[in-house]
Amino acid sequence: MKSRNEYEKRIKKVIITEEEIKAKTADCAKKINELYEGKPLLLVSILNGAFVFMADLCRAVTVPCEIGFMAASSYYSGTVSSGNVKITLDLVQDISQYHIVIVEDIIDTGRTLKDIYELLKKRNPLSIRIVTLLDKPSRRQVEFNADISLFTIPDIFVIGYGLDCGEYYRNLPYIAEYDTQE
Ligand code: IMP
Ligand code: MG
Repeated sequence: MKSRNEYEKRIKKVIITEEEIKAKTADCAKKINELYEGKPLLLVSILNGAFVFMADLCRAVTVPCEIGFMAASSYYSGTVSSGNVKITLDLVQDISQYHIVIVEDIIDTGRTLKDIYELLKKRNPLSIRIVTLLDKPSRRQVEFNADISLFTIPDIFVIGYGLDCGEYYRNLPYIAEYDTQE
């Protein structure tokens, strides 16, 4: 376990405040409300990182919707770019009856989400869109982009609002840069 001092000194700088997250989440929910009025909607969150964003986004969405969770672990070697995702928790719904919105915390290399997207597409949902809280386009290794991205960030390691470093910091209410230096 980290000491309180060690824990706190690694929180380098707040880069996105609670208020900024709240405002962008409201805009995003508004778009979802417009796009899915009268349609069977399933919001799918990828655990663990997206649990905080999902909790806030789904409460800002006002159209009727269902919520589902998936978890995946990925094993990638340097040369293999996709197809290595292992689903460790799967949806219970038969998604052929739903429009799917995948709710993700961050798209980094893009490999995990691309694999999950391809897997869900094979199950023939009515449609699929991707919403991501954060996007690091400079790190992308496969061509893959979100339909809605709330914040584009540079190539820095971030923590908070669901995102972790060694499983810590997920409960910070804001997004901060993690200090990787000693
Ligand atoms: P990728 O897009 O397949 O590289 O995987 C993205 C996953 O890596 C995310 O869902 C996060 O769990 C993790 N990740 C990427 N960048 C960060 C970061 O800056 N902070 C915390 N987790 C990150
Ligand atoms: Mg994640």
